[in-house]
Amino acid sequence: MSAVSSVMEKKIHPLLKVENLTTQIKTPDGILTVLENVNLTMKKGEMMAIVGESGSGKSMTIHSILQVIPKKLLNGYQGKVEVEGTEILSLNEKAMKQIRGRKISLIAQNAMTSLDPSYKVGSQIVEIITSKTNLSKKNAKEKALDLLQQMGIDEPLRIYQSYPHQLSGGLRQRVVIAMSLACDPDLIIADEPTSALDPTVQLQVLDLLKKVNKELGTAVLMITHDFGVVARIAETVAVMYAGQIVEKGRTSEVIFNPKHPYTQSLLKCIPDLTWIFDESKRKQALWQIPGEPPNLLHAMEGCRFADRCHAVEERCHSTKPLLKKGSHTQPDHVVRCLLAEGED
Ligand SMILES: Nc1ncnc2c1ncn2[C@@H]1O[C@H](COP(=O)(O)OP(=O)(O)OP(=O)(O)O)[C@@H](O)[C@H]1O
Ligand SMILES: [Mg+2]
Repeated sequence: MSAVSSVMEKKIHPLLKVENLTTQIKTPDGILTVLENVNLTMKKGEMMAIVGESGSGKSMTIHSILQVIPKKLLNGYQGKVEVEGTEILSLNEKAMKQIRGRKISLIAQNAMTSLDPSYKVGSQIVEIITSKTNLSKKNAKEKALDLLQQMGIDEPLRIYQSYPHQLSGGLRQRVVIAMSLACDPDLIIADEPTSALDPTVQLQVLDLLKKVNKELGTAVLMITHDFGVVARIAETVAVMYAGQIVEKGRTSEVIFNPKHPYTQSLLKCIPDLTWIFDESKRKQALWQIPGEPPNLLHAMEGCRFADRCHAVEERCHSTKPLLKKGSHTQPDHVVRCLLAEGED
């Protein structure tokens, strides 16, 4: 293939395409289908979020994409994951190591543990750069200092020479973001990167990721359970429930015009703090979705949300809903609900 046609190839393929990804894990109780037919497409430079309750399969989705589920836990994957048109689910570990960090980097859910307490921050960033690129140690140090500066850190050299425990939570998270950028990836996947931070620092870190996206063109897939984070950062959002994507679309469209009863319920759960001053709002403000997510050990005939749904009908218990267009005017807005309007 000529250089020009290879560039053309890259242009027409999305950065990330996940097609009917189904993941099963082995547990002492049996095989769990933790993901069922997950579909996602991200363009270069896009900001997307996956939102859902605890246990909905957000981390499993990205761990499946990156194939980091431990061998003894994994029962198997089905479906396709493509990066710029190349299928990666069938790649061996050596090839996947090239994808991880260089093409796609992960800010893990317990990001603080991605820093080794016994080494200075700088040497940890340099180690990543030298292990994944051909840069010399000297150039890697320059790059590490540059990255720390780009993260809005005023005294990059001081931070470079610090141990992780000498830094505040917000600074450590900036260092982790700098590490994720060490090999100029096309996509950063950030698994709840701000949930351990206090609200002001949370906003600073989200704004930093937005800046990275704008200035470096790095796409960001943000994993969160918080619609506030989604609204602040993402152009598109996928809502997950019990291992499936139940709604997906432009963030403003999904927030202002949610079609799936689960999305409607999640949005209703956002606390309105005015109840503290107005007792009549208390019940509404502290409302929670009733019931529990289904047990993934058992095969389900109908909709996975049926038992908790405020709009449930009899057919919902027996017919599996497919993702379909939820709105005629917004073709990218799709919903997995029998009751939603639209076409298949
Ligand atoms: N190591 C494991 N052993 C058994 N079950 C697991 C394991 N890891 C995940 N699961 C199950 O897989 C499902 C999806 O989990 P996942 O970690 O993807 O959820 P999540 O949406 O990331 O939740 P959280 O917001 O709490 O991080 C859950 O039902 C969970 O119980
Ligand atoms: Mg998780």
